[in-house]
Amino acid sequence: MTLLALMCTVAFFLWVGLTMTLRISNKEKQKRDADTFESITTKARVIATFQKIALLSTIILLSALIFKLYHDNTAYMEPHILEWVNLVVRWTHVVFGIAWIGASFYFIFLENSLNRTEGLRDQIAGNLWAIHGGGFYYIEKYKSAPEKIPKHLHWFKYEAYFTWLTGFLLLFIVYYFNARSFLIDKEVFDIEPSTGVAIGIGSLIVSWIFYDLLCKSPLVNKKFIFLITMFLFTSAAAYFLSQVFSARAAYMHVGALLGTIMAANVFFVIIPSQKALVKAANEGTALDPSLGLKAGLRSLHNNYFTLPVIFVMISNHYPSTYGSEWNWAILAGLTAVSVGVKHFWNIYEQGNLYNKWLLPAAVIGLIALAMITAPANPATRLKDARVVNFQEVQSIINERCTNCHSASPQDKVWTSAPNGVMFDTPEQIIAMKDRILNRAVITRTMPQANQTGMKQEERDAIEIWIYQGATIQ
Ligand code: HEC
Repeated sequence: MTLLALMCTVAFFLWVGLTMTLRISNKEKQKRDADTFESITTKARVIATFQKIALLSTIILLSALIFKLYHDNTAYMEPHILEWVNLVVRWTHVVFGIAWIGASFYFIFLENSLNRTEGLRDQIAGNLWAIHGGGFYYIEKYKSAPEKIPKHLHWFKYEAYFTWLTGFLLLFIVYYFNARSFLIDKEVFDIEPSTGVAIGIGSLIVSWIFYDLLCKSPLVNKKFIFLITMFLFTSAAAYFLSQVFSARAAYMHVGALLGTIMAANVFFVIIPSQKALVKAANEGTALDPSLGLKAGLRSLHNNYFTLPVIFVMISNHYPSTYGSEWNWAILAGLTAVSVGVKHFWNIYEQGNLYNKWLLPAAVIGLIALAMITAPANPATRLKDARVVNFQEVQSIINERCTNCHSASPQDKVWTSAPNGVMFDTPEQIIAMKDRILNRAVITRTMPQANQTGMKQEERDAIEIWIYQGATIQ
């Protein structure tokens, strides 16, 4: 199974690499056709043939090598291979995501900041002077299409497509591939991995359909109602997912469903509208202004989705959010806060300098969320508790944690200590006591999906031991 996943991933990246290379070859060919020097053509051809042979033999050799390594030592190679696949996919995902969101921020900034009044030529809706990297730039936006569509027209789409594809791959590698470790938490809901995967993928599709229908309904023109409807939908999705998946998987699926809406906006609406615009301009037929407006609106929605999506993508590191009993409500709160911040940012760029409440309100909201997620003071609850000694704690940790957190873990998935955290010696346990309190007692996000079946009494015992000073005696 790992080998299959590996092969699919490698095939995906080869496909991306080949598509990109093909585009470059086409461009090069166009340039060559314009060129009259035969010698350059021959040289380029020889180089290209040589590169192809070298590439093909490397691919064959590497595949054989991976297969052999895997075959000889499956138990050790499986997790190792998965780790590297995970690394490469995640890295690519983040890089494409930055390129995409960067373009989104840039173009919405441009739209917001255009000079729309002074010294404009007839066809121009606005312009902007900028300085960046030591160069002066002058950008103009047309009211509709230019008279002649230029030969080199840059399209922004691969950033979006590849962000989604790598993101989906990552969802697969992390949550679906090891569904029992990451997707499913028996204490939340005991479902079969296949059911879990179906619910996960289904949630992405349903969300897109819901959002798309909403955009096609008259509600799309009622900004406030649209916003509230989308907010309620996202919160409901977060609630539903938190009732069927492990907390982390629930969060990640909310991010994935928003990301899917964003990518689908590009694929199903923005790019087709733009293609229709270019086609009409080339044919000299009248442009349908609703196409541009529709694409612009979806693009603006995408811009508002960015901050909540980025929060979800980093939320894994913050167990007080996804680990809280109210995790779905906290996600909803952070979504509201971040959309508010993005809105302030956008109206500020448009020159609205009078809004004095949005940003402070967002900060107050953030502080309120930090306070809501704060752990309760245990003093009154624990002051008369029985004495818990270190031996008891150590045996609990040996039973429930060292399966993964050890120099030689027994777990099938975690063959090296997660995050390098080990509990083999008393010193290691004492050194980590604060984080143990955080993960096993307060947020209850450890053991991972409670795979080792830790009981509440055991969590209580650890809490009391730490409250009583966490000593070795
Ligand atoms: C099934 C494997 C597994 C078991 C069992 C397990 N953990 Fe973990 N632990 C992980 C993984 C995976 C991570 C890294 C991901 C994360 O932080 O959520 C982790 C991370 C942690 C961290 C965070 C380290 C950091 O860098 O901040 C702590 C603390 C922790 N575990 C404590 C515990 C305690 C205490 C127990 C037992 C009560 C336990 N774990 C049981 C898999 C496990």
